[in-house]
Amino acid sequence: MSDKAERLVVEVLKGRAPVGRIPIWMMRQAGRYLPEYRETRAKAGSFLDLCYSPELATEVTLQPIRRYGFDAAILFSDILVVPQAMGQKLWFEEGAGPRLDPIEDGSGVAKLDVSGVCDRLAPVLETVARVREKLPRETTLLGFCGAPWTVACYMIAGKGTPEQVPARLFSYQRREAMDALIEKLIVASVDYLVAQLKAGADAVQIFDTWGGMLTDAQFERYVIEPTRRIVEGVRHIVPQALVIGFPRGAGVRLPDYFVRTGVDGVGVDWMANRAFVRDRVQRIGAVQGNLDPMCLVAGGENLDREVDDILEAFSDGGFVFNLGHGIVPETPVENVERMIARVRGRHVV
Ligand code: CP3
Repeated sequence: MSDKAERLVVEVLKGRAPVGRIPIWMMRQAGRYLPEYRETRAKAGSFLDLCYSPELATEVTLQPIRRYGFDAAILFSDILVVPQAMGQKLWFEEGAGPRLDPIEDGSGVAKLDVSGVCDRLAPVLETVARVREKLPRETTLLGFCGAPWTVACYMIAGKGTPEQVPARLFSYQRREAMDALIEKLIVASVDYLVAQLKAGADAVQIFDTWGGMLTDAQFERYVIEPTRRIVEGVRHIVPQALVIGFPRGAGVRLPDYFVRTGVDGVGVDWMANRAFVRDRVQRIGAVQGNLDPMCLVAGGENLDREVDDILEAFSDGGFVFNLGHGIVPETPVENVERMIARVRGRHVV
């Protein structure tokens, strides 16, 4: 048996399904819903101090694996460390989320430096190596980055916004500057993902949380093409690299995204039509998702029913159980236990 033969998430991404049982992990699985996370976070001081401490970031990456035995660990970091490594000012406001010094025009883009990204992110890469060393042999390690469009949304607005108005406006008013920004993010993302894979990640996930906010033509220009180029760029250096794309809100654009970007699996949000995903998406490759994080907060019989429906829809093909977006801090830990027990209770032949 090869070294990675029994890592179930890797097997599913390679198209070897069914693999005995449905693997499971959760987006944002290391986070504030866990008391042990809150404790380590308090020790670190700020969220960014935690991201840049290989010792503490390794600890919080491993916490959900110890508690629940998930089939994959995801590196503890944030998508916004990349703009920070390119020279943009970043801080997290307690209770409010990320803040950046907004990019206003082409001169703001020109100042960004992509050449030293991996040097500046050395502590994060060190975390990847440490986690791989401590992780059970059968657990998949996932690295990640934000997709160019989603990272650009925060770089332009300087904060999270519900409909990404600043970035959408910027894309029309300053098309060249937008193209230049996306280009820089493609280059930085390729370097960063390659470095994560070399440090020990088994696969990487590209988070495009705000992809669903775009018109068809923009989805093509800012989501599909940049993601395709990242996948191509990474595989140029690491030919067997496994990549999961998560274009939240892509809806009917999912098959096109899947085929044209060349990713091995797609994350599916909770809004997706299950029959469509099963019939039109899962035949292309692996699917991951799509439990509504709010259903996990509520728990009870609704949760059981949703878990069953999701398994019913997807367990005949390549599938990794997950949420349709990140777990929220209000989630009771008992509900996570209940979900895992229900997924694990279901065996596939
Ligand atoms: O999934 C994991 O457990 C790995 C770590 C991870 C974090 N952020 C930790 C985090 C990952 C993969 C991310 C990705 C990320 N970060 C995305 C894409 C996926 C998504 O959730 O949409 C985005 C858009 C960000 C940017 C970001 N970081 C926002 C908008 C916020 C504020 C919202 C919030 O939950 O506080 C963060 C902060 C953040 N990133 C926290 C964690 C654990 C909470 C910070 C804290 O502990 O105070």
